Amino acid sequence: MILVTGGCGFIGSNFIRLWLAEKDEPLVNLDALTYAGNAENLADIQDNPAYHFEKVDLRDSKAVRAVVDFYRPRAVLHFAAESHVDRSIKEPEAFLQTNVMGTFNLLDSALNAWREQGEPEEFRFLHVSTDEVYGSLSMTDPAFTEQHPYQPNSPYSASKAASDHLVRAWHHTYGLPVLTSNCSNNYGPYQFPEKLIPLMIERALAGETLPVYGDGSNVRDWLYVEDHCKALMVVLEKGVPGETYNIGGRAERSNLDVVESLTNMLQILKPRQGGYRELIECVPDRPGHDRRYAIDTRFISEQLGWYPDVGFGDGLLKTVEWYLANRQWVDNVKSGEYMKWVDGHYAAGSSVSDPSENP
Ligand code: NAD
Ligand code: DAU
Repeated sequence: MILVTGGCGFIGSNFIRLWLAEKDEPLVNLDALTYAGNAENLADIQDNPAYHFEKVDLRDSKAVRAVVDFYRPRAVLHFAAESHVDRSIKEPEAFLQTNVMGTFNLLDSALNAWREQGEPEEFRFLHVSTDEVYGSLSMTDPAFTEQHPYQPNSPYSASKAASDHLVRAWHHTYGLPVLTSNCSNNYGPYQFPEKLIPLMIERALAGETLPVYGDGSNVRDWLYVEDHCKALMVVLEKGVPGETYNIGGRAERSNLDVVESLTNMLQILKPRQGGYRELIECVPDRPGHDRRYAIDTRFISEQLGWYPDVGFGDGLLKTVEWYLANRQWVDNVKSGEYMKWVDGHYAAGSSVSDPSENP
């Protein structure tokens, strides 16, 4: 039995689907179903007897302990987090509560379970983290290696950095067999449409402006979500306790490049009179916006034999096709909460960097 947290979110739900398709081992998903968590993401596997679900908030230490004690997992994969940088700028508190205290609660329960199982060497706690903990690169800096100093710049990345440090400490102090992965920007099916790629697809289809922060020259490295999930399986299976593994797609793109590629694909798949490009609009920048992320994947490739399979063009096309084919899913996730965020953040004439604006 493995325990996954945050399995109703974007990456977690893709991971669970892949796990149940490929592995003959049951899984329990602990998720609070926040605005970003959607049970419908796993509708197709609800009846799979190997799948169990517990609606639990990581901030509730007793409930977390009860789930871990009941299922006695051999491994914990920790995806659950508040994950959206723009929200962290406007309302940082939830990020500290979930990402820092929630991770502490999970580590505490995992340590207890590991000890009760007699401290087996094979036990694993895999912490799914982000490249954002390393801060920002200039256009000419070498890509992030696992030795890059931590320099988080947003409330989100600071809270993830804090959680990484807790995980590290639980290994060095208590011997818990932990693994940490730091990954770049994921994209693909089931991503909540507040993140760049699905947001732009949805706004383009609605004929709304495509708000690119600043001049659009900020660079991200993009990884198709299934490749990330496969990397996590490899890290879980072959990773060395105490190690950190950087994961990335070797696909650096400026935001403007990404949005232009999307508009080109949409124009082929669902032509719009006048095209979609005319909808692109540069808007005030995200406060503290990191310039560039890039991942040096040599360590995971050389040590564990993992390489990304899906190129950016192919992955982007699959993603656009998925959003076009799954209109009902999109309509369903556009909850009142989602609409409130979009209305507050992208209201006509409002600045995305205005800290007085409520989401
Ligand atoms: P997401 O926002 O789509 O999903 C987060 C999930 O966690 C949701 O199902 C939500 O309900 C759950 N959750 C949130 N707070 C909770 C709480 N207090 N208790 C229990 N469950 C809670 O996130 P994602 O994009 O799937 O990211 C998953 C993990 O991967 C995060 O830890 C994130 O930091 C990391 N990561 C994401 C990316 C990316 O590009 N999306 C890249 C690198 C790393
Ligand atoms: O690097 C990994 C991280 O990638 C993960 O840890 C985060 O959970 C995930 O959300 C993502 O963070 P980003 O801030 O890079 O993702 P986002 O989709 O919010 O933005 C991607 C880039 O696009 C970023 O440079 C900001 C820009 N952007 C974003 C939005 C939402 C825009 O220009 N306009 C927008 O409306």
